[in-house]
Amino acid sequence: MTQPRRILITSALPYINGVKHLGNLAGSMLPADVYARVMRLKGHDVTYICATDEHGTPAELAAQAQQIPVQAYCDAQFEIQRAAGEGFHLSFDWFGRSSRPANHALTQHFAQALEKRGLIEARISKQVYSVDDGRFLPDRYVEGTCPNCGFEKARGDQCDNCGTLLDPVELINPYSAVSGSRNIEIRDTEHLYLLQAKMQDEIRAWVNRKGANWPQLAVSIANKWLDEGLIARSITRDLSWGVKVTSADGSPRPGFEDKVFYVWFDAPIGYISATQEWAEANGKDWEILWRTDKGADETEYVQFMGKDNVAFHTVSFPVTLLGSGEPWKTVDKLKAFNWVTWYGGKFSTSNKRGVFMDQALDLLPADYWRWYLTANAPEGSDAAFTWEGFQSAVNSDLANVLGNFVNRITKYCASKFDSKVPEAGETGEAEAWMANELATRLKTLDEHYEAMEFRKAAAETRAIWAAGNEYLTKAEPWVKYKSDVDGAAVGVRAGLNLAAVFAIIALPIIPEAATKVLDALGIPLENRRWPSWQDSGLLDAIPRGAPINPPEVLFQKIEDTQVAEWTEQFGGGKA
Ligand code: MF3
Ligand code: ZN
Repeated sequence: MTQPRRILITSALPYINGVKHLGNLAGSMLPADVYARVMRLKGHDVTYICATDEHGTPAELAAQAQQIPVQAYCDAQFEIQRAAGEGFHLSFDWFGRSSRPANHALTQHFAQALEKRGLIEARISKQVYSVDDGRFLPDRYVEGTCPNCGFEKARGDQCDNCGTLLDPVELINPYSAVSGSRNIEIRDTEHLYLLQAKMQDEIRAWVNRKGANWPQLAVSIANKWLDEGLIARSITRDLSWGVKVTSADGSPRPGFEDKVFYVWFDAPIGYISATQEWAEANGKDWEILWRTDKGADETEYVQFMGKDNVAFHTVSFPVTLLGSGEPWKTVDKLKAFNWVTWYGGKFSTSNKRGVFMDQALDLLPADYWRWYLTANAPEGSDAAFTWEGFQSAVNSDLANVLGNFVNRITKYCASKFDSKVPEAGETGEAEAWMANELATRLKTLDEHYEAMEFRKAAAETRAIWAAGNEYLTKAEPWVKYKSDVDGAAVGVRAGLNLAAVFAIIALPIIPEAATKVLDALGIPLENRRWPSWQDSGLLDAIPRGAPINPPEVLFQKIEDTQVAEWTEQFGGGKA
């Protein structure tokens, strides 16, 4: 094999509040997992890190609504999200939490480093204050009428109706989201500001250099922000849940006792702190992944995220990393996704529209969803979720194309060749055709994964499975068997080997079913390696004479009655 690469993969840290919907899954964690699995199968040294993003007002408000402490709320939600990730077979090397001590320490460290470099300044600003609640109302703590579109329930940080980012003081007729009180004043408060303008040139140069490996969309989002000019950004809030603001000696910073860092300042730092937690728990080295003075220059760092996160990852977080003046690793490759839409609208956690990860697993195994969401990844444009599309992807791609192939060939081997990989026979034209198909198509598949083109990778995977069915039609072992048992033996042997190749290339997307196939074929773990398109022995790799066991039915077809039932249950079809 070529030299193993060291690859660090992160997917955007999901907000702690609420189990994630399939759109969130499809636009960051799932493709990151597929990519991680491919790279591991290719023998690379992969570390896939994720965590929950726990600070900020949504968590505080949700805890208040349930009348429990924020810590308890987050503990419970973390467990729910961890379990959902496990249910979907997301192969994180570590799933951490941004609220853990490592992230507090590292966030405070970055603030200190940035301040030393003259990039942080305390400023007085105007904030919304609720007299009745006796507190400032940052971000979502205040709601009111959007100055842009007139929507009456705009949140302080953003209008959900028109999408405009807002400053809470801009809201018309503001009221407290905590108590509903309209007894609101605008008061002075002191906050720390990150002087991003001072980093403008350095970030521009960095985007010009690193952006060569990003998709055009990401480069243009970064350049748009840079063209508008980076401005000072407040990185603290009047809240109690979050990372405390400290002085250089670690004691509370005078005047900031009731303030914490803004969630978007500490969340991306969570990528690093979660890696530290992973290293600590597993006796691994995190610096080789994150410190360029400790080998991270030879690490490939790949980030996965929804497109709304791109600016934070291509501008804001790099300001933190580069501004510190310390040798931190920055992103090399970046993959951004559009949205999965739900019957003409958005999936929405707050409005409970769409299917959520836990509900999905109550309906069908993870593989079914993983396949559909990868084959229809919201790449390039938004992708519509429809029950009919889901049904057809499962029934035709998984059940008819892959399931049927594996079923036919293993059952036939069991009935005519004593459940052993046949030993006799010489290859002919059909095998030569198939070998050629594999060589070209596996190469194409590699290219799609290298380019992180998931839809194309899934389509090529399916095309390889379909070529297998075509091969069986050409080789016709069941016809040959009547006159030429050895000829039939070649077809069955090649077919079983194809089933193994098909399962290995399926492992990244549908790990559960693919594992069943590999187990049925008796493929040892150490041989579950990504097939090389240059390998001419793929049709004869399993030892001849080795025993096989036809697997149970791999995929149940989705019936029209189920589609009708789920459409009713989840309100699909009604926007
Ligand atoms: N929680 C954010 C979201 O769901 C993503 C945070 S990504 C991080 O949109 F880098 F900040 F962690
Ligand atoms: Zn609006």
